[in-house]
Amino acid sequence: MAIAFGVYTLGSITVAVFLSLLTYFTYQLLSRYVHTWNEMKAIPGLEGAYPILGNALQFKANAGDFFCQVIEYTNQFRNEPLMKIWVGPVPFLILFHAETIETLLNTPKHMDKAYVYEFLHPWLGTGLLTSTGDKWRRRRKMLTPTFHFSILTGFLEVMNEQAKVLIEKLEKQVGKGAFNCFRHITLCALDIICETAMGKKIYAQSNHDSEYVRTVYKMSDIITRRQRMPWYWSDFIYYFLGEGREHNRSLKVLHSFTESVIHERAEYITESDSESDQGMKKRRAFLDMLLKTTDEDGNKLTHKDIQEEVDTFMFRGHDTTAASMNWAIHLIGSHPEVQRKVQQELQEVFGQSDRPINTEDLKKLRYLECVIKESLRLFPVVPFFARTICEDCNINGFKVPKGANAIIIPYALHRDPRYFPNPEEFRPERFLPENSEGRHPYAYVPFSAGLRNCIGQRFAVMEEKVVLASILRNFNIEATQKQEDLRPMGELILRPEKGIWIKLEKRVC
Ligand code: HEM
Repeated sequence: MAIAFGVYTLGSITVAVFLSLLTYFTYQLLSRYVHTWNEMKAIPGLEGAYPILGNALQFKANAGDFFCQVIEYTNQFRNEPLMKIWVGPVPFLILFHAETIETLLNTPKHMDKAYVYEFLHPWLGTGLLTSTGDKWRRRRKMLTPTFHFSILTGFLEVMNEQAKVLIEKLEKQVGKGAFNCFRHITLCALDIICETAMGKKIYAQSNHDSEYVRTVYKMSDIITRRQRMPWYWSDFIYYFLGEGREHNRSLKVLHSFTESVIHERAEYITESDSESDQGMKKRRAFLDMLLKTTDEDGNKLTHKDIQEEVDTFMFRGHDTTAASMNWAIHLIGSHPEVQRKVQQELQEVFGQSDRPINTEDLKKLRYLECVIKESLRLFPVVPFFARTICEDCNINGFKVPKGANAIIIPYALHRDPRYFPNPEEFRPERFLPENSEGRHPYAYVPFSAGLRNCIGQRFAVMEEKVVLASILRNFNIEATQKQEDLRPMGELILRPEKGIWIKLEKRVC
């Protein structure tokens, strides 16, 4: 009897403690939420935000519609320095003016990535893109030398080789009418990143049905759907009611592929790794450098650390360049005058020769570089990037509390008529040095800016130059879609909803 009474009392105490803790934490969360809501009241924002759900019910489910919706908001609020939306209980500032973006990116205080990047963690771990604080600083220091110009030059051979495979495939489309080139270009970019990042040829251009390739795309879709749906942010709900199981299946495919490549490569590397078994010169990959690099204390990266970075390069390093080259192809193909100028430049550099492109050539392709920049202005392929506000601050006179998230929208920023008059016009000349003078340094940030800018920027521009120059040395392009027909679909990467349709004609010099 006494024992039963004791157990009963103990049970009651446990329940009472549990309820008190629950009440305490709920109170803490709610009071923080109410405090943030009040602090941010003055910031212009969308009507109709409900408590806890925020504006989430207003968001369009389809990726293309959602992107257009956000851009519509930025047009509506163009004359305000910033705006806010509530995604569930989390406030997001939307920034699309050079002046406010500078305040955010120009300080080491707000370097942490926003909450929505958490959904990339199962795939990318906390690699360079997703890590914060000291880990990020150490990794960035270790990885920066791997993107040095001299290393990138070594990748030119792979870029030229894969561009040649692409040209052979495109030859088959000459005279056959309009076709969608999106996939052709993407597979070329994928072959380039696989060989340069991992030293692994996957022959994506000839074998388009690789499970790894399909899963990279599937995973990006799964993650972005989850980012838009706050009711799936809790792991518990996501794995029971959402796509959690599909997510984990895809994760297994992605990780086992990169894991096996890393093991294979680690075994293959010997102390003097400049010669391969056959005595041929072995090509260096980012992975080889990651396997050898050490931090200030002489510590090497573990295989798990390396996998985070390899997965990050694979994720960030091909979809971006592929989409960017596709947009450029559309724009070149619909502006004959620009195409003529690029081809004239190519003629001056290469004449009749069909030799591969070298570093000296790259420096001379200045107009092509302006074309790439202008394409990235109109279609910045990373359509959003976001930060957590790490301490209370002031943005253009508005108080912003610690813990809020800020999203930068280059697509809207790059259309600011103060810095880019007639912003919808495609005019590569805007980026000639004489026309860029005096422009606000944060008015154009396709690769982000400040300490956490894109580490792969030079790699990307080099790849784009090689592939686009190869195409334009061989073909004349005619775009068969009007710009109005190309609805951008912006999630992790800004892509044209229905691909890029062009006609090709063999070029006679
Ligand atoms: C046209 C091509 C590309 C564009 C427009 C682009 C754009 C960007 C942007 C906007 C960011 C900042 C993202 C953020 O703050 O969340 C970023 C970061 C990053 N990018 Fe790129 N990128 C491109 C190509 C590449 C390539 C080819 C690689 C690798 C080979 C790469 C690797 C990275 C990495 C590792 C980061 C994280 C850097 C850090 O936080 O320290 N990117 N990129």
